[in-house]
Amino acid sequence: ADTLGAAAAERGRYFGAAVAANHLGEAPYVSTLDTEFTSVTPENEMKWDAVEPTRDTFTFGSADRIVDHARSKGMKVRGHTLVWHSQLPGWVSGLGTADDARSAMNNHITKVMQHYKGRIHSWDVVNEAFQDGESGARRSSPFQDKLGDGYIEEAFRTARAADPAAKLCYNDYNTDGINAKSNAVYNLVKELKARNAPIDCVGFQSHFNSASPVPSDYKENLRRFVDLGVDVQITELDIEGSGTAQADNYSNVVRSCLAIARCTGITVWGVTDKYSWRPGGTPLLFDDNYNKKPAYDATLTAL
Ligand code: XIL
Repeated sequence: ADTLGAAAAERGRYFGAAVAANHLGEAPYVSTLDTEFTSVTPENEMKWDAVEPTRDTFTFGSADRIVDHARSKGMKVRGHTLVWHSQLPGWVSGLGTADDARSAMNNHITKVMQHYKGRIHSWDVVNEAFQDGESGARRSSPFQDKLGDGYIEEAFRTARAADPAAKLCYNDYNTDGINAKSNAVYNLVKELKARNAPIDCVGFQSHFNSASPVPSDYKENLRRFVDLGVDVQITELDIEGSGTAQADNYSNVVRSCLAIARCTGITVWGVTDKYSWRPGGTPLLFDDNYNKKPAYDATLTAL
């Protein structure tokens, strides 16, 4: 196969990119997206501040543009994300009581998922619930602070009811190797499974740079999650660097996913370095002019 999407499909996987609605008018952006990728994740357009800026008033325009484009080209869509501490509108942070926070969270999950019902292959139901570092502790958020640890299980149960066909994922970063934070996620998933809570997948963001390189136990970490009975997905892959070093890192990540039967797909966090969220960085597969980088060739070869 001579595209990322076609090569991944031969291995039974999708190969996706994060997409921003405001670039869908740029011809080379769209042609690269349409040629190479078989899944899209809206980079910001499905986040809480974008879709429910005012309580119970939903604004799906930008996200709809991405979903409509993807589906018209036969691509899958990952939903990102329902319950997260960041990119929240002010009214969510100002919720007063636990009951109020609970009804806001459940209404948000239900209305957003119902709007896209049947059109999303996987949803990041809860994103980044744990702190970095050794503590394994939960991160502060309006949901954690008002509802306590049980908010995660409640979010997954609400999500299953809203769109029973969607795979429901927990997604996080710095959980790509075996460490205190990934141990905390592992214990969460184990507990959810023991309680018959509806979790189907774990997303590993996989944002890598020199301070946070591809861990040597990346594949072993994926495997231990799969052994709990969930799928795993590489959800936001980007790797700082250039040339052969970057290419080798991409190939390592791709080979690790392919070695795990239940690693069902890979998403890179952007189409082109030109629009990467990493300021001044070059962490993606296409350069600023949409030329294929050595990392692209290595990825295609590894698939
Ligand atoms: C980032 C986007 O790429 C940026 O455009 C935005 O300003 C901030 O969020 N983890 C996630 C993603 O789950 O939603 C984040 O995306 C990157 C880190």
